[in-house]
Amino acid sequence: MNHSINFWAVVPAAGVGKRMNADRPKQYLELAGKTVIEHTLLRLLSAEVFTAVAVAISEEDPYWPDLDVSAHKKIITAAGGKERADSVLSALKAIRTVASDDDWVLVHDAARPCITTIDIHHLIDSLKTDEIGGILALSSHDTLKSVQGDNIIVGTLDRSHIWRALTPQMFRYGLLKNALEVAEGNAAITDEASALELQGMQPKIVEGRPDNIKITRPEDLALAQFYMEHQND
Ligand code: CTP
Ligand code: MG
Repeated sequence: MNHSINFWAVVPAAGVGKRMNADRPKQYLELAGKTVIEHTLLRLLSAEVFTAVAVAISEEDPYWPDLDVSAHKKIITAAGGKERADSVLSALKAIRTVASDDDWVLVHDAARPCITTIDIHHLIDSLKTDEIGGILALSSHDTLKSVQGDNIIVGTLDRSHIWRALTPQMFRYGLLKNALEVAEGNAAITDEASALELQGMQPKIVEGRPDNIKITRPEDLALAQFYMEHQND
């Protein structure tokens, strides 16, 4: 590796936000004066590490072209796909002529607008000498129950071995693209790490901040607003 390594951000933003139950996809709901996706993208851009940010947008999305950030010189728009993994692969393909196989890609959900520069740099600093890469994650504070049938508890899990996967997830461009191509159509691939795991690779966990929530249900907007008001990075 004698050329300089670039960092790319990939942002899947082609979901419909079914669980949010709003009049538009959740990435276009307003939060503290901007749409959710504007917060997310402006925070990624302000980390000042990415050569470009590739955003996967649904072809039926009328909102994206109206946002100033869609014309930003570091933003590349790609077509969204059926599942999140398809959207990520589409964005990776959109940078194939400019990215090298050993460049790093940080995949970050559009629906996580509270991402901090601190966490982006923490992930990069923790993994930049790694061969494979890894993900931000949170440990679980609650006792975890395993259930069967009609919610009957059949066991208590050892919490010390369980982490909740967040984003960004940071992998080498070539390995990630190949892993997603091999896994195409596999519904069990709900994050990038699982695509690499399927290939027998062992991504690492980097402890993230609990304020990096994913907007999923209506009550999450107020929580995200609260976190933003109390973040000062
Ligand atoms: N996503 C995507 N392409 C898809 C599905 C999801 O780019 N086909 C994106 C979403 O826009 C979101 C991220 O992946 O930024 C995480 O997905 P999720 O939170 O599940 O969002 P939605 O799929 O939109 O929400 P829901 O599952 O409630 O419909
Ligand atoms: Mg979804």
